This record gives sequence, C-alpha cells and structure tokens, in this order.
Amino acid sequence: MVGGDEAYRLVDRTRMWHWLGQLKQAGGGFRVCEDGEEDVRGAYCALVAVTLLDLPWRLPDDSPARAHGLTDFCDGLGEYLSRCQTYEGGISAGPGNEAHGAYAFCALACLCIMGLPQESITKYLDIQALIRWLSARQYAPEGGFAGRTNKVVDGCYSHWIGGCWPLVEAALQGSIESSLSLSDIPPTRLFSVEGLTRYILGCCQAPSGGLRDKPSKRPDAYHTCYNLAGLSMSKQRHEYSDLRHPATNLVSWTVKRDDLFPYTTEEGAASESEVAPFQPVYVIPHAAVTQISQWSRSNHVTFTS
Ligand code: FPP
Ligand code: ZN
Repeated sequence: MVGGDEAYRLVDRTRMWHWLGQLKQAGGGFRVCEDGEEDVRGAYCALVAVTLLDLPWRLPDDSPARAHGLTDFCDGLGEYLSRCQTYEGGISAGPGNEAHGAYAFCALACLCIMGLPQESITKYLDIQALIRWLSARQYAPEGGFAGRTNKVVDGCYSHWIGGCWPLVEAALQGSIESSLSLSDIPPTRLFSVEGLTRYILGCCQAPSGGLRDKPSKRPDAYHTCYNLAGLSMSKQRHEYSDLRHPATNLVSWTVKRDDLFPYTTEEGAASESEVAPFQPVYVIPHAAVTQISQWSRSNHVTFTS
C-alpha cells in the first residue's frame, strides 16, 4: 500500500516462497503459520503473497506437501475450497465447520486468483446455493449484513459478505440473459445497495468520526476499514477481462464505466463525498495492486529450492 522501491525491497521474496511452502498442506489448504491452524484465511493470504510478489507457483523442494505428491501452491486447493462449502451454501473456515462471511470472501477471492471467476467459482462451488446463503445475510429493517445464520448485523460484514458480491457477479458475467455479451455483469445488484448504504452511513458512523460494528459499539480501525470497503463496493461495480494484465499477468478488473461517473469529477479528481474504488480481490486501491506486482515481475530474483 505504501508503495515504492524502498518499501518493496524490504521483502525477502525467496525466503517468503520457502516459508509459504512450509504452510501448504497435503489436503490442498494452508496453515496460517507453522504449526498453526489450517483455514481458508491462510489460503487467501498465501495466494495474495504469491501473486503480488510474483513468486513461482511451483512448491519449493523443501515443502512438506511434496511428500504427498503436491507440486504447486494451487494443487488440491479448489477441491479443498469445495469441501468448505456447507449444507447452507456458505463457506466455512475448514471442512465440517459453520459457514461464515469472512471465510466465504477468502474462498471466493482465492478462486478469483486461481482462475477466471466464471470458470473457477462455477467449477468448485454450487453458486446457486451460495447466492441463496449470501442473500439471507442482509437483514431488514437494519439493511446491513450479518456474518452467519442467526447472528446480528455488523458493519465489518459490509466487506466480508459485501465483498463476495462483486466476485459472484463476475462469475455470472454473461450468464444472466442470452442477449448480454460475455463482458456484461448482471444488470442490477443482487443485494440492496440502499439498505447497506443506510446501515453504514446511518448506524456505523460514530459521533467521534470513526466507523463501528453497530450503534453502542466504539469505532475502531478494523470496522472503519471494512465499512468503507463495503461502501466502495456498493457504489462501483467491477468487470474482469479474460485477457490478463500485460505487465502483471494478473486477471484485470476494471470499474464498470457507468459507475465511474459519481466518483470522477470533470477535472478527473476524486470527489470528496465518494469512496475510491478498491480492487475487489486484494481490497486495496487498484494502483497499489498494479504497482507491487509490476515491480515484483521486473525485479528478478533466483528461486532455487
Ligand atoms: C466470528 O466472530 C468470526 C469469525 C469466525 C472469523 C473472523 C475472520 C475474519 C474477520 C477474517 C479473516 C480473514 C483474513 C484474511 C485475515 P464473532 O462470533 O464475534 O462474530 P459473529 O457473531 O458476527 O459471527
Ligand atoms: Zn465486526
């Protein structure tokens, strides 16, 4: 996020590659740290690091997962994520656990890193069951999202649940009406933008200025970040292209042209009342994703096992 050569050079990419290799598990998933728990969070964080740092997809020779026949960071991962989809249609931390919004986002984002959303999400997940579960996370009259069944709304799920929507919408690109071209996402949002906006702006803004889980709670940096990410997601839709970005080799996501209007002033500067778009998979500004991955690709290091 800070950007620039001085910041990027601080990361030892070769050691990062070896360390991530230690976290890869025989069943396709990742631990969050050595001897730590294995869950979908670990997989998402690992794939973010591999792609932004342009690490090799092949597992280092010292990765314990190699003893189980795995050779690549993605080996078995799609199948592992499939096993995390529960009877409710949502996605859990690991096979057999309860579906939860945070893990649903991590799993969808993993699939969007591994391949094109239309292919990878539909290949590994029951998307109809997922949409049913996601839809049931938005409550009336509050308008906000809850993280799981029978729980109350919370501003941070504006991102964890809300952030699932652009990825699901991308998986549906071109599949809603045969008259739409392949580059079209669904014409309307699949959740109530009005309800979510009302909850974030009306209930999650604390008088002191930060954003919070709900009225009665104190604002904090975590809820400020994820309320704003949800607000941004609800204002600007994204589309992806099946042509990867030439400089980064990542799937290219762009803000849908019509949605740029309220964000861009005639001078091309951001209007003060709007929230900037976030890249929907990495959830940082688009330029931050492009700059670090481009830097990593052009700064060669030797990855030897
Ligand atoms: C339940 O807390 C919360 C969880 C089970 C998981 C939380 C995980 C994350 C927020 C994201 C992790 C991902 C990354 C990439 C770091 P709770 O019982 O207090 O909340 P609830 O009642 O809303 O479920
Ligand atoms: Zn929260």
